[in-house]
Amino acid sequence: MCGIFAYMNYRVPRTRKEIFETLIKGLQRLEYRGYDSAGVAIDGNNHEVKERHIQLVKKKGKVKALDEELYKQDSMDLKVEFETHFGIAHTRWATHGVPSAVNSHPQRSDKGNEFVVIHNGIITNYKDLRKFLESKGYEFESETDTEAIAKLIKYVFDNRETEDITFSTLVERVIQQLEGAFALVFKSIHYPGEAVATRRGSPLLIGVRSKYKLSTEQIPILYRTCNIENVKNICKTRMKRLDSSTCLHAVGDKAVEFFFASDASAIIEHTNRVIFLEDDDIAAVADGKLSIHRVKRSASDDPSRAIQTLQMELQQIMKGNFSAFMQKEIFEQPESIFNTMRGRVNFETNTVLLGGLKDHLKEIRRCRRLIVIGCGTSYHAAVATRQVLEELTELPVMVELASDFLDRNTPVFRDDVCFFISQSGETADTLLALRYCKDRRALTVGITNTVGSSISRETDCGVHINAGPEIGVASTKAYTSQFVSLVLFGLMMSEDRISLQNRRQEIIRGLRSLPELIKEVLSLEEKIHDLALELYTQRSLLVMGRGYNYATCLEGALKIKEITYMHSEGILAGELKHGPLALVDKQMPVIMVIMKDPCFAKCQNALQQVTARQGRPIILCCKDDTESSKFAYKTIELPHTVDCLQGILSVIPLQLLSFHLAVLRGYDVDFPRNLAKSVTVE
Ligand code: F6R
Repeated sequence: MCGIFAYMNYRVPRTRKEIFETLIKGLQRLEYRGYDSAGVAIDGNNHEVKERHIQLVKKKGKVKALDEELYKQDSMDLKVEFETHFGIAHTRWATHGVPSAVNSHPQRSDKGNEFVVIHNGIITNYKDLRKFLESKGYEFESETDTEAIAKLIKYVFDNRETEDITFSTLVERVIQQLEGAFALVFKSIHYPGEAVATRRGSPLLIGVRSKYKLSTEQIPILYRTCNIENVKNICKTRMKRLDSSTCLHAVGDKAVEFFFASDASAIIEHTNRVIFLEDDDIAAVADGKLSIHRVKRSASDDPSRAIQTLQMELQQIMKGNFSAFMQKEIFEQPESIFNTMRGRVNFETNTVLLGGLKDHLKEIRRCRRLIVIGCGTSYHAAVATRQVLEELTELPVMVELASDFLDRNTPVFRDDVCFFISQSGETADTLLALRYCKDRRALTVGITNTVGSSISRETDCGVHINAGPEIGVASTKAYTSQFVSLVLFGLMMSEDRISLQNRRQEIIRGLRSLPELIKEVLSLEEKIHDLALELYTQRSLLVMGRGYNYATCLEGALKIKEITYMHSEGILAGELKHGPLALVDKQMPVIMVIMKDPCFAKCQNALQQVTARQGRPIILCCKDDTESSKFAYKTIELPHTVDCLQGILSVIPLQLLSFHLAVLRGYDVDFPRNLAKSVTVE
């Protein structure tokens, strides 16, 4: 739930100021992952000076506060040049310990900062480790789980059996003792100019930049033997030494830079050449050479890691002319939806081909049921498409919140097909549900927005929604692209069903006109802003609807609560008389989503129930709906599309409304309190 960024310049001279700037920029790109405190560790002195030390600068608050703090440090000459240097940086979202400088990362091994570490994830056995280390005389200063890692590496170092133990061997021994999830990057005064990074359950990638041709495009993995059982025999392991022929390095004068980060958005402005680490990979840079080794064979069993070329562009992740990423992302939807369909839908032949699923189609068609699993907004995308999936696949479709699915130990069978919907592809609950289903041998399908993410790699097959990077914590364009991806899947499944051909054609026609219709909805922004002006001082907001638009209500209410901090509830209109009606009076703002679809008449009933209690409904309705508008306090009129796609259009006014409400209430739209973009803890 935090952001990791580290930068090594090897034989590429950089001033301390340049190093700071690189680290801060990296953190700013990752700030959406967490932003309650931030910190860096850099070299205090030039390496040529005999006495080395690591300087830690940490600050509660956003990265900006850390940036200001760096320049206040009298002891750090900004002009000092480092030919080789390794700096690590971190932006935190608190899990253990309140947001504060001492709890922020890097965490250190001791007051002399011999080892420092940055961490994303949660160490579940940290209390045992802490107890053990305290019994050995190591003093803790923070409340974090991460500090146990910093102390543990020093313990392993202090108890090493040989003087020439490598940095990566130390880390290898440390991670043998860790339970939970982590991405870690280490720096040490004992290994100047060296870096070690590793992961298990949390994402981590390495960017490589060099003006020289790299010596290899594939880094072979070196497997080592290890027999560590527990903390007591921690120092007894024998390792094979690293074979330098397995190292990646640049030829010529070997000038090279490495960037370590939780995701590509922090790396892409420096290089598009990246290596995605797998769980339990230990990547080490020494003498400008990168090597990767592991103790266990990898899940993929791939004996090498490829240096991949990312297609993402920097401007894709910049805010453009918008005041917030969220607003930009809302306005990107005509294009992001189009990109989800690009190359997949043939509007002439009315066919759909999802390349990532085609080899598994037969198996999917034979399955017992579809289970669609996700969290938050991604779950809502499953709710939104459940009915059309049932209709097009003629299969039972269960939609599940990942955490609840796991809590219930839901029965899963090998002839089930389980879909995992996740923008980030890293959400811990969804990832655990995926592993649960894999253990039961169900076919697993990932629907993610993040190439190379854990979910996209661990599923048997899948679809990338291609919405482009989503930076705003509140998910918007990913929702509509997830929606479209699931509809595309239904269309692909029903291709040979004669009885469904007319329906398929109607939906495919609807998809074709979606980008234009979304633009029309976006043109309502001013009207929605005016509505926000009227509502922004309210404490509560109800959003009601049913059928295809129930998910719109859940999603609209989630957007409102997460960025405006107003209470908001998405209510199934059919349930109104079973309880929620008691909330309705002339003060309570009620938004009703009433579209021209098979639930129209039933929604009219709900409307009557609301107006009969002096409620003043704000109605999202279709342009040609004269009936609903008669009873409305206000209307927002939307273009009409096919019933099962209408939810894509009806959610956008609510995305915009939540955005304007949050701005008017004076909140930071992209970084809502207590939330992070990528929830990599349970
Ligand atoms: C809400 C929001 C969250 C995420 C949820 C799942 O705006 O963004 O509810 O949808 O945390 O995240 P992913 O889709 O990355 O698995």
